[in-house]
Amino acid sequence: MKIFVDSANLEEIEEAFKRGFASGVTTNPSILSREKKCDFKEHIRKIIDIIRKYGPDRPLSVEVFTLDPKQMVVQAEDFVKQFSDYKELYIKVPIGWDELWVIHQLRQKEIKINCTCCMSFNQAVMAALADSNFVSLFAGRIRDGGYDAFQIIKQTKDAFREGGMRSEIIVGSIRHIMDVNQAFQAGADIVTVPPKFFRPLVKNLKTDEVVKQFVTDFANWLK
Ligand code: E4P
Repeated sequence: MKIFVDSANLEEIEEAFKRGFASGVTTNPSILSREKKCDFKEHIRKIIDIIRKYGPDRPLSVEVFTLDPKQMVVQAEDFVKQFSDYKELYIKVPIGWDELWVIHQLRQKEIKINCTCCMSFNQAVMAALADSNFVSLFAGRIRDGGYDAFQIIKQTKDAFREGGMRSEIIVGSIRHIMDVNQAFQAGADIVTVPPKFFRPLVKNLKTDEVVKQFVTDFANWLK
């Protein structure tokens, strides 16, 4: 059971890593496009520096940004070359027919893969059979399409376990803190969470109330 940070924002990533609960980072081209315009690779390097500041290298996913399969291979190899010192780099490749060829090409070279944008059980199974290290199921978008994300995650987890698949399931596209709970309950190995949900995940009004009560009671007794 692990939480990844679904962000490319340096402060947000650091706030998570300094609290010890984060085990990795996922980015995608849209997430990166929310940051101030900069050199893309320098920005990824800064994310690596933050991860390293708080412990060992942990999975960092960077996505290809082309629809052309051959270019995907070129971009993936370029990322791997650029960050050759970082062994926990995962290349995000979307699921698809030609993309399975991309994944196979890269896996033969021992490049780590996060097969992304999976919306169904069958896509997840195909990604795992192509030897993706991570298979990312998009809970919010699955629900947008009218399907039950909880059931798809659960069925995928059961099938991976029974089939002896090595791929780990990442659940992304989190829209609510309940999505995080349900993803874990359905068997997600990892949930990648947008940082705006981190505080709500630990906040509880009754906790605030009792903590204040303890401090007040003791302060009164000390008087
Ligand atoms: C996961 O790896 C993706 O970055 C992310 O969760 C995408 O979700 P969204 O675009 O639906 O928010």
